[in-house]
This record gives sequence, structure tokens and C-alpha cells, in this order.
Amino acid sequence: MNNLMSFLLKLMGARDPYARGHSNHVTELSAGLARAIDLPAERIESLVFASQIHDLGKIAINEAIINKPGPFTEAEYVMVQHHSILGANLIAPLQLDASIQNAILHHHENYDGSGYPHKIAGESIPLESRILRIADTYDALIHDRVYRSAYSPQKARAIMREESHFFDPNLLEIFFNMDQP
Ligand SMILES: [Fe+2]
Repeated sequence: MNNLMSFLLKLMGARDPYARGHSNHVTELSAGLARAIDLPAERIESLVFASQIHDLGKIAINEAIINKPGPFTEAEYVMVQHHSILGANLIAPLQLDASIQNAILHHHENYDGSGYPHKIAGESIPLESRILRIADTYDALIHDRVYRSAYSPQKARAIMREESHFFDPNLLEIFFNMDQP
């Protein structure tokens, strides 16, 4: 499993050097949140695996689109959204725990049903994906992006509170009560 993970991370890092740091930060945050809700150890293990490679599908999407600083056209946005399906499909032959594939497939679903790819809502979204959604968003906000500079942790929290309909409300509260790195 470790060799496989190293291979997948190298693959992602070769395409996008920024991906490695983001994967590690998201993994730490989601594992922390999972521990805070006493998720069983074997589910945390699968969540850690999914968190490391949640954006694996981006390796199959045109680099110019992934790194585009300006707003996406409708077609580009559809392509970017496709990364969650691609990621889940890419690991299908590995026959890992189904929860890993599901966590990746649904890591951009929003609690209010406005996310992608399946627009599922609330508890229909796998718990692992709801955890990932929070960890992924927070880490993205506190780091520089091609289209904007990093927000402070305080500002990141304020933004997430404003857009709290995207997130599982119970998990979000627990996340905000954790010590952020
Ligand atoms: Fe993603």
C-alpha cells in the first residue's frame, strides 16, 4: 500500500508540484477531524488514503485549464468538475476499499446539493467526502492560488461560515473548534 501511495503521489507531484503540499495538508486536516468525531481507525485509514489522492483525476485534465488564472468558460468548468469522476475511475482497477473510491468521487458535493458530480445533499454524501470537503476548502483558502493570494486563517473561517450551506454543519463546528495548523 505504501509503494502504491508513493507512486500515486509522485504521479500527481510530477504534474503539479503544488499538489504534494495540498495533499498532505488536506490529509492532516481530515484525519484530525475524523479523530475528533471518533471515526473508527480503519475508516480513518481509508480516509487518509482518499485524502492523499483526492485530486488524482486532475492529472488527466489539460494543464492550461487546471492552472488558468482567469474565470473558466462553461466548457472548461465542466472539464474541471470531471476530475472527481476521473480520480474515482483511475483507481477502480486497484480494487481498494469502496469507501476510498466513493470519498474521491463525492469530494466536491455540497451539503445543500449544489456541488458535483451527482448533486447529492446532506447525509446522502458519504461522511468521508463531507470531511474532505471541509479540509480541502480550508486548505485551499489559506494558501496562494494562481488567481488570488492566501487568506488568513481568520478570514478563511469567516468565508466558510458565510458559505456554511456547502458544509455539514456539525462537522464544520467541530472543525472550527479544532486547533488549526
Ligand atoms: Fe478536487
